[in-house]
Amino acid sequence: FHVEWDLVQAEKGGYDSFMLKEIYEQPQAVRDTMGARIDRENKRVILPELKMSDAELATYDRIYIVACGTSMHAGLVGKDIIEKWTRVPVEVAVASEFRYRDPIYTDKTLMIVISQSGETADTLAALREAKKSNVKVLAITNVVGSSVAREADEVIFTWAGPEVAVASTKAYTSQVVALYLFGLYLAQVKGTLAAAEVATIVEHLETIPGKIASMLEDAEQVRRFAESTKGINSLFFIGRGLDYAVSLEGSLKLKEISYIHSEAYPAGELKHGTLALIEDNVPVVALATQPDIYEKTVSNIVEVKARGAHVLGFATEGDYDLAKTVDEVIYMPATLPMLTPILTVIPLQLLAYYASVARGLDVDKPRNLAKSVTVE
Ligand code: G6P
Repeated sequence: FHVEWDLVQAEKGGYDSFMLKEIYEQPQAVRDTMGARIDRENKRVILPELKMSDAELATYDRIYIVACGTSMHAGLVGKDIIEKWTRVPVEVAVASEFRYRDPIYTDKTLMIVISQSGETADTLAALREAKKSNVKVLAITNVVGSSVAREADEVIFTWAGPEVAVASTKAYTSQVVALYLFGLYLAQVKGTLAAAEVATIVEHLETIPGKIASMLEDAEQVRRFAESTKGINSLFFIGRGLDYAVSLEGSLKLKEISYIHSEAYPAGELKHGTLALIEDNVPVVALATQPDIYEKTVSNIVEVKARGAHVLGFATEGDYDLAKTVDEVIYMPATLPMLTPILTVIPLQLLAYYASVARGLDVDKPRNLAKSVTVE
């Protein structure tokens, strides 16, 4: 028994928990996801694992992304990316809902299922339902030999390495990278992005692992903020567009391991109800990294500040204006706005982690939750 404990400690590689270890493995995990899929010479994406022809891929004019939990949140980022780069409409659905729907399929519909484990019962059922309707299914999964990997028509493996902590971290960032790669590849095939645009995005994508590493070097500010939440009952995340998609993931992470009630809200929607919950000292994490909607988000931050909220803002390096509106700011390394989700999620994972530690909870094994949900 003693030996087993030592083994677990050894597997944590010097970290207090698997979650922290996996958070710090993210630069490598996302580098491995990109791996040989980036043609560095020509600055484009290659997906040699796809069995279907480019001509077939180009015919799809509608995509469903189906997944659960954190994988579904990666799908929300994927939707915005794919729609922006390829102009193909994408709908994201929770697998437990989708499997009982009567989805509208045509012979030009592609389904993407995302599952770290490849064994989630609802995701697998949705995949099987789609296959019964002869819909082509592409899986993004981390586990070779998993049910999802075996049953899907096409597979893109994330190569993030084993993820042990119940709260998913490196699987999420590697799923998002896999979706960037797929979105770029589809854009190349459909001709919706010029080669020069693809090259610029690829160049920026290649700098992401280094940027994640630099963010992980300085977790002190987020740790202090997390500790200040020790006595609070509720915390809100707000953002617009891609910032909203990441807010949902930040909120889920916090809920699952710190048990603090939390909601993510599209910043512009607050005034339609949730603003009533904002009062003195309620913590709000406000993401303002998207330039095209920056002013709008700031005006929503002003609204919560006016109700007494304590606001931790996320801004892009070089934007020193946000500091005038919020109580504290965390700066994201500059990158293309479309790529920021992969950076903004890092401090959100650390926030959840440190909030859990501050409350003395079991970070890796939160109550009532399982790593892989293989029953309905
Ligand atoms: C469980 C895990 C989550 C995960 C979800 C989907 O609820 O606790 O972390 O996001 O299942 O899992 P999958 O393996 O399909 O990505």
